[in-house]
Amino acid sequence: MKIDAYFTATEVDPASLVSATVVVIDVLRATTTIVEALANGARGIYPTGGTEEAVKLAHSLGREDTLLCGERKGQKVEGFDLGNSPSEFTRETVEDVRLVMSTTNGTRAFIIAQDAPRVLACAFTNLGAVAAAVAEEEELVVICAGRQDRFSIEDALCAGHLIERVVSESAGERALNDAALAARLLASARKPSRKLFLQTAGGRALAEIGLEGDLDICADVDRHDVVAEMEDQVITLAGA
Ligand code: MLT
Repeated sequence: MKIDAYFTATEVDPASLVSATVVVIDVLRATTTIVEALANGARGIYPTGGTEEAVKLAHSLGREDTLLCGERKGQKVEGFDLGNSPSEFTRETVEDVRLVMSTTNGTRAFIIAQDAPRVLACAFTNLGAVAAAVAEEEELVVICAGRQDRFSIEDALCAGHLIERVVSESAGERALNDAALAARLLASARKPSRKLFLQTAGGRALAEIGLEGDLDICADVDRHDVVAEMEDQVITLAGA
């Protein structure tokens, strides 16, 4: 198995993904929210780039059963129905609903990965499910969304814990690139927690706008046994 990790999405050459299984990680908070929404019965999540594009897509899908969700600077986008706090995506709110999502880093990473043959969303909340789903793959690419094209330690930590699980669950040769090795070393030193996330730029930014509570859900390992897979630019429950 060949495992390549990237600490920011802009480092990735989309052409290099043609035969890879890609896992996209944005712990604070896009992939955590995507997993939460699907675990609570959302029909599908449509990652988009800009907010205008999101509004157009939501109207074309039909606003009667399509919600707009996303953030800028961590806050709900004006005119959107939901922000990006996983706690907002309850079964009451999202069951059988389509979600058009636009966030600063996470949704952009999905757009960069969209032409890969297989694309999964990973967070700490569905770590085990993703590790099991990719254990037999020959070529695995782990894309960390990062933060404004910069390294974010929470994404690298999640990548490391995923790689650790995959390596321990699969047999045979493994070839890790330096970023994958670095992520694995990081994971051998720390586990996710609110306390650790409060030391990160992303965690501090959320605490400053009163969203510190989100950090507990984002650090809740294996909260959901769900695999979230993107096909034709829509993320749904794999096999659903
Ligand atoms: C992102 O995609 O940039 C993050 O999810 C931002 C956030 O949730 O605050």
